[in-house]
Amino acid sequence: MRITVMGSGYVGLVTGACLSDLGFKVVCLDKDEQKIRALQEGEVPIYEPGLKEVLHRNRADGRIRFTSDACEAIEHGDIIFIAVGTPPSEDGSADLGHVLSVASLVGRHLKSFKLVVNKSTVPVGTADRVRSAISHELSHRGMSLDMFDVVSNPEFLKEGAAIDDFMRPDRIVVGVDDGVNQIKSQRMMGDLYASFNRHHSRTVWMDVRSAELTKYAANAMLATRISFMNEMANLADVLGADIDHVRRGIGADSRIGHSFLYAGCGYGGSCFPKDTQALVSTAKAHGQSMKLVSATEQVNAQQKLLLVDRLMQRMGPDLTGRKIAVWGLSFKPNTDDMREATSRVVIRDLLMRGARVSAYDPVAGDEALRALRIDCADHLDWLDRFELASEDMQALQGADALMVLTEWKIFHNPDFEVMKDLMRRPFILDGRNLYNPEALSEMGIAYQGVGRRNDLVQLLSFDAVPSSPPDLQDSHTSTPDMRVNA
Ligand SMILES: NC(=O)c1ccc[n+]([C@@H]2O[C@H](COP(=O)([O-])OP(=O)(O)OC[C@H]3O[C@@H](n4cnc5c(N)ncnc54)[C@H](O)[C@@H]3O)[C@@H](O)[C@H]2O)c1
Repeated sequence: MRITVMGSGYVGLVTGACLSDLGFKVVCLDKDEQKIRALQEGEVPIYEPGLKEVLHRNRADGRIRFTSDACEAIEHGDIIFIAVGTPPSEDGSADLGHVLSVASLVGRHLKSFKLVVNKSTVPVGTADRVRSAISHELSHRGMSLDMFDVVSNPEFLKEGAAIDDFMRPDRIVVGVDDGVNQIKSQRMMGDLYASFNRHHSRTVWMDVRSAELTKYAANAMLATRISFMNEMANLADVLGADIDHVRRGIGADSRIGHSFLYAGCGYGGSCFPKDTQALVSTAKAHGQSMKLVSATEQVNAQQKLLLVDRLMQRMGPDLTGRKIAVWGLSFKPNTDDMREATSRVVIRDLLMRGARVSAYDPVAGDEALRALRIDCADHLDWLDRFELASEDMQALQGADALMVLTEWKIFHNPDFEVMKDLMRRPFILDGRNLYNPEALSEMGIAYQGVGRRNDLVQLLSFDAVPSSPPDLQDSHTSTPDMRVNA
């Protein structure tokens, strides 16, 4: 069986790379010709641990290639994956424009039987729309409508661990509907994933609608756990309890488990925010409301600004003349993905309040600059006060506070004595609860985590902003490797 993957983003590239590693001949298509040219030259346009190596060896062995020619791509695959984006529309519903345009392309170029496998996250009923779009084109061409089938195979990979997730799946959800091609489609999907089912079957077979809903249910459940813990953490703060103890206490209950119980400064990424919104929107379109999922979203939106609120409790709403350091820009570690990252909301708000922001991220700096230019499009002058540091410690020079927004490993054990010397005020707002509040307090560093007993920060008094803070002026002129987004 040969494989075609339509859409060469995070999901498409990982799918293509991993299937080629299992011996399949794969063609990946994208409409972005620049991306395809880069891939053809051996570059990988996204940061995903291990992806470059897998792509490199399979490209060298001729098992994977890249094209922007739809005709060539569709001719190649017996199985055609749809892995294009499904961004949110203005009303929160999933925008199916890319999915349906790819479906029409398949209908236009199909010459022999193709199994169309939808891997994009799509609302219930989308497979029917994909089927209609292909049928429409086939009818135009006077071809049989039995020359294809559409199945649902939602993707559950996590960015940052995507290769491992794909190669060692907890489960593979496959939705196949009744119809003339049902048996053939089931056999093809069974053969495709046979390598993962050798020890025991990981495939969960179901109908297409259930498969489509399973993906949304999984993401909504995970997002809800996070928002639940964030609410608990905010309560723990005012009650003088430590959410980290609470987390361990409830996680040990086998009915609850330890995963996705970390309180923090909100979830982001390309999936949870848009998928919860889309689920709410789907329910609304069918006269239902999703009260729990809506509340999850609201809690998350507030949580993203929690650290700014805390900063303002100390410094007031006008942050003019303050310098705030930020560690971590991507929505989570081990990725450069900036979609819905907490850092975007936080940095925009800090800049709006007049602060200078000096940020460091191990890989997402360039993506962050691109994202902030979009977020601050109405106030590009704000970005004169934003700078990208080339090292974590460099970002701290003369800072009034540090906000830790992404739990990259290199932030886990910093040299706190050096940090104290570099910062104008040793004050850490830890959005990922990386540090030990008591230990930092003993070192004379004011600390606030999320749900870690807020009172420690009372030790610190904040004076007025110096009239002409030397560090702020220096930072533009005396640090040549500090990139300023002018
Ligand atoms: N990123 C994740 O962690 C993740 C995990 C599970 C599921 N998903 C879902 O998978 C889907 C893809 O997500 P992603 O993160 O890979 O998106 P992405 O934006 O990284 O990639 C999508 C790619 O599709 C291409 N594309 C769009 N229209 C096209 C067309 N008509 N023809 C060819 N190429 C086209 C784009 O140029 C882009 O390269 C989404 O529905 C997403 O919700 C994503």
